[in-house]
Amino acid sequence: MARRLQITGGIPLRGDLTISGAKNAALPIMAASLLTDAPCHLTNVPRLADVDTSVAILEALGVDVRREGDAMTLTAGGEVGHEVPAEHARLMRASILFMGPLLARTGRAVLAKPGGDDIGMRRVDQHVAGMIHMGATVEEAEGSFVCSAERLVGADILLDMPTVTGTENLMMAACLAEGETTISNAAREPHVADLAAALNSMGARVSGAGTDRIEIEGVDRLGPAEHRVCPDYLEAGTYALAVAAAGGDVQLLDCPLPDLRSLVLKLRHAGVEIEAEAGGARVRREGELRPVDLITWTHPGFATDLQPQYTAVMTQAAGESVIQEFLFENRFNYVPELNALGARIELFPHRRGIRVQGPTSLRGNIVTIPDIRAGAALLIGALCATGSTLLGGVEHLDRGYEDMAGKLSRLGAQVKEPPASVPRQSVEPGA
Ligand code: EPU
Repeated sequence: MARRLQITGGIPLRGDLTISGAKNAALPIMAASLLTDAPCHLTNVPRLADVDTSVAILEALGVDVRREGDAMTLTAGGEVGHEVPAEHARLMRASILFMGPLLARTGRAVLAKPGGDDIGMRRVDQHVAGMIHMGATVEEAEGSFVCSAERLVGADILLDMPTVTGTENLMMAACLAEGETTISNAAREPHVADLAAALNSMGARVSGAGTDRIEIEGVDRLGPAEHRVCPDYLEAGTYALAVAAAGGDVQLLDCPLPDLRSLVLKLRHAGVEIEAEAGGARVRREGELRPVDLITWTHPGFATDLQPQYTAVMTQAAGESVIQEFLFENRFNYVPELNALGARIELFPHRRGIRVQGPTSLRGNIVTIPDIRAGAALLIGALCATGSTLLGGVEHLDRGYEDMAGKLSRLGAQVKEPPASVPRQSVEPGA
């Protein structure tokens, strides 16, 4: 049954919370375990539905997976399969990340077209073009990619746009390719750099990750890995935005503040205090919020994955703000639901921007989450609303946020599972 949460808003957040490992780093690093037959020991792996889906895929491919708390050991020691089960691929976009490692390890890969959040077209043509450039054959058959390569060869790849999973896929494939690969116009997100660090701990030769030009010198084999997954700047940013919206004073432990520079600038302009502190960051908001315009961009610009949550904050700011989305054409899908809480948000006809009129007194209502980050935005809206909000579709949140209800409750928020709904009418026995 779909999971729901009941939130009673109007309570400022206070206390401290520890940021979990990054989903978007953990998923490619787990896929990279296919590149070696030696054990890959990971720590700080977040407990998320998407991580469970990756485990299911790896197990289906023959990888031995051991988990204890946030530690995980992945050993692709024996024969490795080459087909990602369609039922898992359909659950998340990140299933495409198995293309590079499978091609490099087995010379073959069959992957159903990936599912995941419906936030835009989400093409993968750059992944495919890059693999072909490295000597692979990629065909599309019955909704699947069927890929093969005798041996991948290093190539000079220029991406049309700095695609995140595309950069990661090609970087992983290049580690075992013959010769050197360069990826220009590469994605610079922190999780790309974290994947490179994990690959280098296996003996790969990757340099430049975190910049827009990555160089990979192919090696014949990779060894065991020891890696701590980087803390999730998107989770940290989400909680900083929750404090900005609901007010309060929160310490975010293990918060990678340098990765959140564009968010920090926006929040400070809006009147939120956010400072680095030993072991993390402190976020405080007591006074009025000012409206601040925004456009999303690739890193180090403002992350599209924080845009919906930022909009929720702007509903509380005194005045009008304009928010534009550069990456995904369907990323304002949460607007009708936020408006159902009483927000005044108008979508521009070209659908790439919105105008938010604040401040609005949000009121509890029944709303449904359409995707991970939209879910975080609706939850933040509910934290500001008077009365009680019933949030449906919480399984989306579980894909990307570890124990969000528990973490918010520890900050004083009232977030709980609602009692099972009572049947609308009871029928007398024998009636
Ligand atoms: N694009 C293409 N062709 C390609 C690849 C991308 O046209 O071959 C376009 C997309 O259609 C999109 C833009 O380029 O308009 C950016 O897409 P990108 O490939 O960078 O996104 P992604 O790799 O599919 C990752 C994250 C997303 C995050 C985006 C942008 C993972 C597993 N997913 O997706 O995270 O929004 O980068 O930063 O890393 C989330 O965590 O909630 C999430 C959706």
